[in-house]
Amino acid sequence: MQTVSIDLGSRSYPIHIGTNLIDQRGLIAGHVRNRAMVVTNETIAPLYLDQTMASLGNTPCSSVILPDGESYKNLDELNQVFTALLSENFDRGCTLIALGGGVVGDMTGYAAASYQRGVDFIQIPTTLLAQVDSSVGGKTGVNHALGKNMIGAFHQPTAVIADMGVLDTLADRELKAGLAEVVKYGFIIDAEFFTWLENNVEALLARDPAATAYAVKRSCQIKANVVEQDEREHGVRALLNLGHTFGHAIEAAMGYGNWLHGEAVSAGIAMALDTSLRLGLINEASRERGIKLLQRCDLPVTPPASMTPELFLKYMARDKKVSAGNVRLILLNGIGSSHVSADFDPEALHATLEHFST
Ligand code: NAD
Ligand code: GLY
Repeated sequence: MQTVSIDLGSRSYPIHIGTNLIDQRGLIAGHVRNRAMVVTNETIAPLYLDQTMASLGNTPCSSVILPDGESYKNLDELNQVFTALLSENFDRGCTLIALGGGVVGDMTGYAAASYQRGVDFIQIPTTLLAQVDSSVGGKTGVNHALGKNMIGAFHQPTAVIADMGVLDTLADRELKAGLAEVVKYGFIIDAEFFTWLENNVEALLARDPAATAYAVKRSCQIKANVVEQDEREHGVRALLNLGHTFGHAIEAAMGYGNWLHGEAVSAGIAMALDTSLRLGLINEASRERGIKLLQRCDLPVTPPASMTPELFLKYMARDKKVSAGNVRLILLNGIGSSHVSADFDPEALHATLEHFST
């Protein structure tokens, strides 16, 4: 087992990365206060719930099983967690355990942020995307029909336990969607990692354990470092949203769950590369290099045909990065370098939206 630490003062926590961690007696229990509620979904429960509960040993533990899917990441379904906690008299000393992908993790985290004004929670991410991104950093929340992740809170977990073994049962499409968030780190901040990814993409697609563990560890290190500098996203943390302004518009407009989050982010990164090129921030060779890596991950590099410029602008206006009415984009200065900007020539954005809708 390897451990990456995230240093946030009193909210610091370990990110444990290894295999068979959910079976390791005492590992999860060591982070539980007086009583645990495992939150999972109907797909993951038959695969990993018994093991997880067994490893808790004598720690009192219950579970709640949500329906599976992004379309259930909403306040109505979240209420099931509160109903389970209240009907079993869980108090403020309880610990919620998110056993699942980013949907379960975001929902459980938000339940923990709000139940009795805040209780502890542990992330046990079971998708690649959740292991490299959503389980780390404390962003929690649910979707609203009018916008993605619009209801939420910052609430850090007390531990993240990333078990590589559970990725064995993950569908290929989900694995590839997770790779979008992995390559994102190379694009925004780490040219060396980008090159490593170019050299190891086939190993990652073939689920090579050593390559996967390295990609998870490096991604968590980068994310931890960014979150340590800017926990509440007043600055550098926004870079983690490369491609997300376009991507969130695709997810919301297509109906949650039709395009996977990572797929929408991949198309969004391709669009951000295009805008950066039009603004003269990157050259054609860098754009090509970026597109090629996304394609080698078997990820989409164009949005769905039904996404018109008008539809993009409608949803982008609701993005959380909009400030005083201005859309803010993460733009690339090259491979491994990026910045946030609201002060760019809007013609470049419009040209990108037109280009991808023809
Ligand atoms: P997901 O949670 O929907 O999981 C994908 C699918 O895989 C689901 O059907 C799930 O049941 C299944 N699954 C999960 N683990 C499995 C396993 N080990 N074996 C077999 N099947 C398994 O999707 P995701 O890609 O993990 O997460 C996407 C969500 O994460 C989005 O809602 C996105 O907004 C959010 N997100 C949040 C952050 C953050 O910082 N909080 C960052 C990135 C993404
Ligand atoms: N996934 C973006 C963030 O955590 O800030």
